[in-house]
Amino acid sequence: MKSLFFNPPLLNTPCPWCRDLDQLRDLYNSAHTGAVTTRTSMIDGFPDDPKVNQFVFFNPLTQQAATPNVSEAGEGQTSSLNTIGFSPYTLGEYLSFIKTISDEQEERDHYKPFVVSVTGVPEEMAEAYKIITDFEDQVKMDLIMEVNLSCPNIPGKVSPAYDKDELLLYLEALKGSIDDLKEAGTYKEIAIGIKTPPFTYQEQYDVFISALLEMTKRHGGLPITFLVSTNTLGSSLLLDTDNLPDTVLASMTGTGIGGMAGSAIHPLSLGNVYTIRQMLNDYPELSDLQIIGVGGVSDLGGFKRMKSVGADFVGIATALGVKGLSVFEEINSQL
Ligand SMILES: Cc1cc2nc3c(=O)[nH]c(=O)nc-3n(C[C@H](O)[C@H](O)[C@H](O)COP(=O)(O)O)c2cc1C
Repeated sequence: MKSLFFNPPLLNTPCPWCRDLDQLRDLYNSAHTGAVTTRTSMIDGFPDDPKVNQFVFFNPLTQQAATPNVSEAGEGQTSSLNTIGFSPYTLGEYLSFIKTISDEQEERDHYKPFVVSVTGVPEEMAEAYKIITDFEDQVKMDLIMEVNLSCPNIPGKVSPAYDKDELLLYLEALKGSIDDLKEAGTYKEIAIGIKTPPFTYQEQYDVFISALLEMTKRHGGLPITFLVSTNTLGSSLLLDTDNLPDTVLASMTGTGIGGMAGSAIHPLSLGNVYTIRQMLNDYPELSDLQIIGVGGVSDLGGFKRMKSVGADFVGIATALGVKGLSVFEEINSQL
């Protein structure tokens, strides 16, 4: 399976600002992104309802929030909260967006890759890998599959990254898909990675790493080559300070509790990338795994901090919404 190479080592991660064809095209055509990630899709789409699937920017110091579902941040609103779920577009629709962008590219030697973010049950992820593999011949760029194991906003769902048996089901399903493709002679070595939620205590890291080790013990290797750390931090709540205890966001659960990101989680994301890198390095069978570090990066300082704790590549979501595409230029022009 191919390892990742992004130049510059900078990309967006799934968020509302990489949802549509136009946004993906702008990200792709920017000279300052080394790869582009789609918003997370499901094979059959997600029933997105803006009344309960929301995001908002807020100031972590004052707790002052902007307007929900509006991509305009006020002074100091460097963090985000969301209850947003997944994209209403299907995996097939994202592949057609990628084809449109591919067809628009002039002939040249190198095309930056697209990271296709997907989610679903293990069998759907196995199917998604086959769908992406079948499709890859139609586009000029390499495709990469990122399995989002970590969305905190779906009622009744615990992240499989917190549960060894659940995580093993995903890894086995992905391996099964690779084996089927190899048997059929159609395997194309499309890289697979998994996106993890923030871990907040050592036992969570231990469970996660033990699942990876168990997989290598069973099969002599892993079906994945990279990790993306971190997703948003669940269990977070923003209150409407003028109307307590009203919440700023609505949610599918009715509580308004969602996933926090941006500057407020930067130290936690750095701690996760640091700890995961150190733990992977302890095991020769895991040490080749690459890491896309993400969480609260919005400038060159954040980029450098993320790289210094072991990120091979650095991802950005909230700051893309806050600053727009120029966040990539700001960082890349100083590299
Ligand atoms: C509004 C919003 C929606 C998001 N949706 C997704 C998603 O569908 N899939 C996913 O893997 N991550 C999603 N994320 C998480 C981001 O990709 C990123 O991992 C996280 O926000 C931390 O980065 P940041 O601090 O730069 O925002 C979302 C983040 C935000 C702010």
